[in-house]
Amino acid sequence: MARVRQAVIPVAGLGTRFLPATKVVPKELLPIVDKPTLQYVVEEAFASGIEHVVLIQGRGKSAIEDHFDTSYELEDTLDKRGKSAEAEMLRKISRLGQISSVRQKVALGLGHAVLSAKAVIRDEPFAVLLGDDLYRTAPDKRPGIGQLMDAFAETGLGQVALMTVPKDEIHKYGAAEGASEGPHRFRISALVEKPPKGTEKTDKAVVGRYVLPPDIWAILEATKPGKGGEIQLTDALDVLRERQGLMGVIVDGRRVDAGDKLGFLEANLLEALGRPELKDGTVALMRQLIAEAERA
Ligand code: G1P
Repeated sequence: MARVRQAVIPVAGLGTRFLPATKVVPKELLPIVDKPTLQYVVEEAFASGIEHVVLIQGRGKSAIEDHFDTSYELEDTLDKRGKSAEAEMLRKISRLGQISSVRQKVALGLGHAVLSAKAVIRDEPFAVLLGDDLYRTAPDKRPGIGQLMDAFAETGLGQVALMTVPKDEIHKYGAAEGASEGPHRFRISALVEKPPKGTEKTDKAVVGRYVLPPDIWAILEATKPGKGGEIQLTDALDVLRERQGLMGVIVDGRRVDAGDKLGFLEANLLEALGRPELKDGTVALMRQLIAEAERA
């Protein structure tokens, strides 16, 4: 079976939930502590064994490409000022791995964004990572997308990341019906994009990571606009499931929705708590803020 070497990361979204911050700055470059959100996702892909990341770009987002490029003047200035650790940290970003970008000229939905990568990815299985979903996994565990790549290597079937959510929240997600096959595997029997409130049949939500066989291209090409008038990846995946089967992976780790205001704060606090030099200060600050909020 072909190995998963390439990953698609759509970054063409407008980021309306974070206006005005995203008026000029792409939402993917908003920092979690001191690193752009997207860098965490790109690092997850390369740490999982991906060799080539394809960014699906929209207009006005060229700063994203610059972030992963060399920054000769800045590195040279830092070196001359004796800040060699900072210069080296920047060099490492440009050496993370091969990154290409494709333009999605019209925003017709996630399925359409993924389809824009067809000419680059071609006839091999590939990963998809959504930039709003961040995964924190233990150091001895495979990163989020790596866990799906392992499951794909076991079965050869398409894989989607799943998370158990309260049933009354499933309307915000792609919803997967089916049955568990062990603690981290789930056989999907139906996939519905954002089922209307009151119709929810499952508590398993699709959360931002996929490994797909190249058969998805023809399905995406034939997918008509669905929920919200957009070409939905979830709709194409349900057709893939019907034709050849589709599995879910309950990722061993913590997923944070950095595309949501509270989730973004959570991602920042978790990252700060995970850094030895910031942990104690962050705990003290949180205690103080909670005490102040309770007094107010
Ligand atoms: C997208 C997908 C949805 C998925 C969600 C979270 O929706 O269409 O199936 O559950 O991401 O990963 P969005 O949140 O972009 O509207």
